[in-house]
Amino acid sequence: MLSQRIQNLKPSATIAINTKAIELQKQGVDILKFGIGEPDFDTPENIKQAAKRAIDEGFTKYTVGTGILELKEAVCTKLIRDNKVECDTSNVLITNGGKQALYNCFMALLNPGDEVIIPSPYWVSYTDMIAVCEGQSVFVDTTSNQFKLTAEMVKTAISPKTKCIILNSPSNPTGMTIEKEEVEKIAELALEHQFYIISDEVYEYFIYDGKEMFSVASLPGMKDRVFTVNAVSKTYAMTGWRIGYITGPEKVIKAMGNLQSHSTSNPCSIAQKAALEAINGPQDSVKMMAEEYLKRRNFVYEAMSEIPGFKLTKPEGAFYAFPDVSGAFTDQINDSFKFTEFLLEKAHVAVVPGGAFGAAGNNCIRFSYASSMDQIKEGIRRITEALA
Ligand SMILES: Cc1ncc(COP(=O)(O)O)c(C=O)c1O
Repeated sequence: MLSQRIQNLKPSATIAINTKAIELQKQGVDILKFGIGEPDFDTPENIKQAAKRAIDEGFTKYTVGTGILELKEAVCTKLIRDNKVECDTSNVLITNGGKQALYNCFMALLNPGDEVIIPSPYWVSYTDMIAVCEGQSVFVDTTSNQFKLTAEMVKTAISPKTKCIILNSPSNPTGMTIEKEEVEKIAELALEHQFYIISDEVYEYFIYDGKEMFSVASLPGMKDRVFTVNAVSKTYAMTGWRIGYITGPEKVIKAMGNLQSHSTSNPCSIAQKAALEAINGPQDSVKMMAEEYLKRRNFVYEAMSEIPGFKLTKPEGAFYAFPDVSGAFTDQINDSFKFTEFLLEKAHVAVVPGGAFGAAGNNCIRFSYASSMDQIKEGIRRITEALA
């Protein structure tokens, strides 16, 4: 009954563990959750006010399917200001979250059998979106280099079928970045072998230790080769509002707009006005959140490094720690899924098994520190106690 396309979709590897966490909670067990990739902050007040104004002013009808012009202009101004990426509104598509931007992009670029290079561990949705679009994921394992992608690694995965590569810096799930020199070399490879780069920059403002965000689309000659994906979701604690955007070569952006016009039409009109305020308005809330994540990152790094059997490279960005916990494995608990189950049952702590982000992550767990400092302290105390 089901189409081949849909049969290619795998259920999320994290569902079983989530179901168990919910069951335990129903039984009254106090579960501390570090699984979700979502800011714990509330959406800033100025953004909420902009949405309320939009409703009061009756901005509640269909908009242009590809997003309102003001928001596209704001995206262009932001890209020029923060990313040194030249762009025109004809290069911008406003989408229902970063996810739809990525999905539209794969739909517009991939023919059956086209290959997409994915640095692994990777964010879960990439591979399933690619499968639905009948593309082929080709993984590049970054574990040997503390999850930092290099151009040499990319080289080994290039074939005549390579259509594009995904760069996600800072990365979900590892929190690591790609060094600028490596991005430059990967850009050269893209030009030489004629493939596209999809740069997922949704965590760009959460980057620590003086490292600077760097957009591959800002490199000379890359304008026609790069799609930059972003969203207000993580930056402004707006995950539920569902506004993202993608910029890139006009021809493909236009095709994605056509697809969107026949599938979802415009992203929510009210949320677009809220996103406009987010991008154009005061940015102090972003700074405050980034400072808070940094404090938590520092704490998590120190505290996890003390847990016997845990090995953690200092995360460079986003709000995830991805420790290798294989030193704490036993004969029975010998992979990330079993270890995550053990933590849930014994420590009442929910994390995500690293194996959910590809085989390369199966010695690891993903711990999201988008949680209050008190919860983080208690969570790490419980993990330490469970392993004693
Ligand atoms: C790496 C990465 N890209 C894209 C997204 C999609 O974000 P959105 O919620 O805007 O669809 C996420 C969300 O978790 C993410 O982690």
